[in-house]
Amino acid sequence: MHLCSSLSFTLQVSEMGIFALMTGRPGPSGFGSASTAEQVTEGVDASNLTAIVTGGASGIGFETARVLALRRAHVIIAARNIEAANEAKQAIIKENISARVDVLKLDLCSLKSVRAFVDSFNALDLPLNLLINNAGVMFCSHQLSEDGVEVQFATNHLGHFLLTNLLLDKMKNTARTTGVEGRIVILSSLAHTTPYQEGIRFDKINDRIGYSELKAYGQSKLANLLHSNELSRRLQEEGVNITVNSVHPGLIMTPLMRHSPLLMKTFKLFTFWMWKNVPQGAATTSYVALHPKMKGVTGKYFVDCNEMKPSSHAGDEKLAKKLWDFSNKLIDGASKS
Ligand SMILES: NC(=O)c1ccc[n+]([C@@H]2O[C@H](COP(=O)([O-])OP(=O)(O)OC[C@H]3O[C@@H](n4cnc5c(N)ncnc54)[C@H](OP(=O)(O)O)[C@@H]3O)[C@@H](O)[C@H]2O)c1
Repeated sequence: MHLCSSLSFTLQVSEMGIFALMTGRPGPSGFGSASTAEQVTEGVDASNLTAIVTGGASGIGFETARVLALRRAHVIIAARNIEAANEAKQAIIKENISARVDVLKLDLCSLKSVRAFVDSFNALDLPLNLLINNAGVMFCSHQLSEDGVEVQFATNHLGHFLLTNLLLDKMKNTARTTGVEGRIVILSSLAHTTPYQEGIRFDKINDRIGYSELKAYGQSKLANLLHSNELSRRLQEEGVNITVNSVHPGLIMTPLMRHSPLLMKTFKLFTFWMWKNVPQGAATTSYVALHPKMKGVTGKYFVDCNEMKPSSHAGDEKLAKKLWDFSNKLIDGASKS
């Protein structure tokens, strides 16, 4: 069953062009599946930018943080495991002595921790140009967060939703006072195409009955895309100089797979041609965050550094607005209990 669902990802990917995926042939942006984060940011000077990368201690987030720092951005690694984040910081500095990297504690599964992170970040009195909502968990068995919310939805969407809202004034201020466009990049996934039938199970979000590890992950990644679209729409309406886009990084073997190692290894056997390495996996995020061609581009979904049409659920504006209100209600409810 799990393998069948996973193979349905393959069919979705096939629509993106097997040839392009296998060969890494560049798309209209000039980049493709074989491009690395370093290649897509070649020549970019990010020395005037401050970036937060959630989950920057491992996998795609670490490579994104490393490459942003290489392009001279000041990078804040936001991580729940401070020891791992400090090791990541040391690894970046070892390679690049002038890298500006700081580490702050953030557990997205706890709304209290999200608020504490924002307080700590604000205390640093830094500007904020780039927010990379990268952290995530996948295929977890049914659990509730400390706020009583299903863990994949809580970590992948709700924690990031609150984080983004709390950082928005800082980002708006930075964009206004510097005249430099702010950018928010939200890591979604091709898995947004395989949520529950209704997209988001608003009335059963925490239910154990009917819970599917795969569909709950798909639901959370659909929520990421809907959040990106709705936030982009709101910021455009306000006339704010901040773009918001979502990305699918590709398929990359990272610690994300730890809840289903056998399934993912078997899946990889059938789909070996679709997999990327970590430097390639961080390319789309880095392209959307830093590339000059992305100036003014907002509310779009990117795969292999090129714009891609997301699923019909993801393009549903009513669903995006409903999710926005629902997320606010969940946060209000949690703070009252
Ligand atoms: N790898 C892929 O094939 C793939 C495909 C599509 C989309 N994505 C998306 O890409 C993003 C990065 O994934 P990855 O493959 O790089 O996986 P990864 O190496 O496991 O990175 C995920 C990061 O998120 C952190 N994290 C998890 N729960 C957290 C929490 N409650 N609070 C704060 N940080 C938390 C993890 O920290 P810990 O080490 O403490 O758990 C880890 O550093 C995810 O959003 C994922 O959904 C990945």
